[in-house]
Amino acid sequence: MKATAEPITPDRGITAHGLRKSYGEKSVLEGVSLHIPEGTIFALLGPNGAGKTTTVQILSTLISADGGQARVAGHDLDQEPDEIRAAIGVTGQFAAVDELLTAEENILLMAELSHLDRSVGKERAARLLRRFDLTDDADKLVSTFSGGMRRKLDLAMTLVAEPSVIFLDEPTTGLDPRSRRTMWELIRNLVADGVTIFLTTQYLEEADQLADRIAVLDHGKLVAEGTAEDLKNRIPGGHISLRFSDESGLESAAGLLGSVGRNTEELTLQVPSDGGIPTLRAVLDVLDDAGVQVETLTVHSPDLDDVFLALTGQADAQKENVR
Ligand SMILES: Nc1ncnc2c1ncn2[C@@H]1O[C@H](COP(=O)(O)OP(=O)(O)O)[C@@H](O)[C@H]1O
Ligand SMILES: [Mg+2]
Repeated sequence: MKATAEPITPDRGITAHGLRKSYGEKSVLEGVSLHIPEGTIFALLGPNGAGKTTTVQILSTLISADGGQARVAGHDLDQEPDEIRAAIGVTGQFAAVDELLTAEENILLMAELSHLDRSVGKERAARLLRRFDLTDDADKLVSTFSGGMRRKLDLAMTLVAEPSVIFLDEPTTGLDPRSRRTMWELIRNLVADGVTIFLTTQYLEEADQLADRIAVLDHGKLVAEGTAEDLKNRIPGGHISLRFSDESGLESAAGLLGSVGRNTEELTLQVPSDGGIPTLRAVLDVLDDAGVQVETLTVHSPDLDDVFLALTGQADAQKENVR
C-alpha cells in the first residue's frame, strides 16, 4: 500500500483512508475512507456485491488492499498485521462453527487457537455459553443447531479471546426475526463492554437499530455517511401531516399550502418537508396569519429505506442532492 500525507487519528478504533481493491479488471473498492471511534458501532450498509466483505477482509488483514492505509485497534495495517490479528475478532458471513464438535468444544478450540490457558478457556467458555443462553446445549453437536444458535455460537467463539475490535459480516442474514433480535441484543451488550464493532448489513433496520454511525456503500464507494438521523434528514421525501377539525379549515389550508396532499375524508393535508424546524415554522406561520386552526400535526422523516432507495441506484436523480 502507498503511504499518503494524510494524518490518521491515533485511537484504538478503526480509521481507513482511500482503500482501493481490484480483482483483475474489476474495481471493487474505489477509495473508501472511514473513521470508527473506539467503543462505537459502525454499520456498513450496502446491497449484495457492494464490497462490504472485501472491506472487512482488508481491515481484518485477510487480504491486502491495492491502495490506501488504515489503522485498526491502534496498529498500522501495513506495518503491524500480527498485532491487529491479536486484537480483533471476525465473524464471517457464514458461521465458521465445526459441525462435528459440541458447542463447548468449538469455543475451547478457539481458546486454544488463541493460546489461552486451558483453565482460562474453560472458564470463559462457560461464561459465554451462559451469556448466550447456550448452557443447556453446551454438550450437543453443532450439527443439531438451528441457524440462530450457530450464529450465537460463532459470536461466542469470536469473543473468547476478548478482542477489542470485532468485525461482524452480515451477522443476521438468513435469521428469523426472533433470532435476529437476540443477536441485536448480544451485539448491543458488547459495546457496553467498550468493544468497537464494525458491522456489515443489507438490512436498513439493523443499521438503524444498532449503529452509532452508518455508511452506505454502493459499487465500491461510500455514497453517504452519518447517523441514521443524519441520513434520513439528507434525503427528500419527508412530510408534515396536518389535521383540521373541519372541512373549511382544510380548504383554507389547501388554498395556502397547495392541495396535492389533501385527504378530505381524514381532514388531513400533507406538506412536503425536509423535517427541519424552519420549514415547520414557516408552514405554521402561514396558517396562523390566515387564522387557520390546526388540530394535530405530525412530522414524518423518511426512514432508512427511503435513504437506501435514493442512494443506491433506484432513485439516481436524488443521489446528487445528498453528496
Ligand atoms: N476473490 C475474488 N475474486 C474476484 N472477484 C471478487 C472476489 N471477491 C469479491 N469479488 C467481487 O467483488 C465484489 C464485491 O464483493 P463483496 O465484497 O463480497 O460484496 P458484498 O460483501 O458487499 O456482497 C463482487 O462483485 C464480487 O464478485
Ligand atoms: Mg459479503
